[in-house]
Amino acid sequence: MHDPRPDHPSLLTVDDFERAARARLTKMAYDYFRSGADEGRTLRENRRAFRRLEIHYRVLVDVAERDLRATLLGTSVPFPILVAPTAYHGLAHEGAEIASSRAASELGTIFTLSTLSTTSLEAVAAASPGPKWFQLYVHKDRGLTRALVERAESAGYRALMLTVDTPILGRRIADVRNGFALPEGLVMANLADAAACSPAADRGSLLAAYVASRHDASLTWRDVEWLGGLTRLPILLKGIVRPDDALRAIGCGAAGVVVSNHGARQLDGAPATIEVLPAVADAVAGRGLVLMDGGIRWGTDVLKALALGASAVLVGRPVLWGLAALGGEGVARVLATLREELSTAMALAGCPTLASIDRDLIRRTRGSMPAP
Ligand code: FNR
Ligand code: LAC
Repeated sequence: MHDPRPDHPSLLTVDDFERAARARLTKMAYDYFRSGADEGRTLRENRRAFRRLEIHYRVLVDVAERDLRATLLGTSVPFPILVAPTAYHGLAHEGAEIASSRAASELGTIFTLSTLSTTSLEAVAAASPGPKWFQLYVHKDRGLTRALVERAESAGYRALMLTVDTPILGRRIADVRNGFALPEGLVMANLADAAACSPAADRGSLLAAYVASRHDASLTWRDVEWLGGLTRLPILLKGIVRPDDALRAIGCGAAGVVVSNHGARQLDGAPATIEVLPAVADAVAGRGLVLMDGGIRWGTDVLKALALGASAVLVGRPVLWGLAALGGEGVARVLATLREELSTAMALAGCPTLASIDRDLIRRTRGSMPAP
């Protein structure tokens, strides 16, 4: 177990890590990590929706031992909190994805590597022994896309997470204002044309330009089947907020879905993920894996997501805050903090196992159940 360290008494919560990260990052990097799309309505709602939920705990349950273990697509993890794919860890810390993936390995949880990493997928696989998944962006260049899939498979990644909410990039106003680009020395290490997001004279987000020119915005359900034909790895569709889309994903052969709005960075006005999770879980009804991400900052948020139908959650920004604040050590501490907070929440809610975390625990603040 990762004990709380006395040497950083001020870093007790994910929010503490965000403050510490902000103090260390350039404005361009902090704004990129923090931003949501447009006016940030969905970004606020991802958090507010958690705050609206109450935990109607049970008492006098034996919680002396808590079992947080989960098995996801055949991989067992000691606690149900995974690392979400986020681009450009090199912007947060020089250790980049090597440091963050090693921290996930140390804690025993799954690390999901973004297509847009600043370290190659092979180097990450070689550097960290733990279980890893690969997040895929389908490029117009299908040869490149196929090569990414083959490389991930041969490097030992255990699943593909196909992101389906990003045909083009959502508009992050701060990035446009800052002329967001990768600083000198950082590249998109998985992509041959990695120079495409390096400094340029013109303003505007270079990432938005990259996605517009290289991502395949014509991607459809048929391509999910195409991808299934390319690989023996299980495929998760990330970016689902509708029950009908979740069902269609399973129908196309996906092993499951990630209920996600991309950390509120794509369509502003999209629902908070915790709001739509119950309906998606009901539709999937055990025929596939249901994960969720978006706005998880406390162990009680994890408990709420598990209660409302997720088998596990992923965290995006919290990992980046840990990495920026203290490198790999910070990532390990953020993950351990969330794990300990979940364990505490389970004890206080009367839930010794993940299976005992049921929907009946959760009510909206005004008394009604979240819409099923
Ligand atoms: C992301 N996310 C993301 N998703 C993805 O599929 N591929 C990617 O490359 C990225 N990149 C990325 C960068 C940054 C800076 C952020 C904040 C997010 C989305 C990510 O996987 C996840 O859905 C959200 O981060 C979850 O919300 P929280 O935990 O950040 O609130
Ligand atoms: C983002 C892309 C890279 O959210 O997924 O910034």
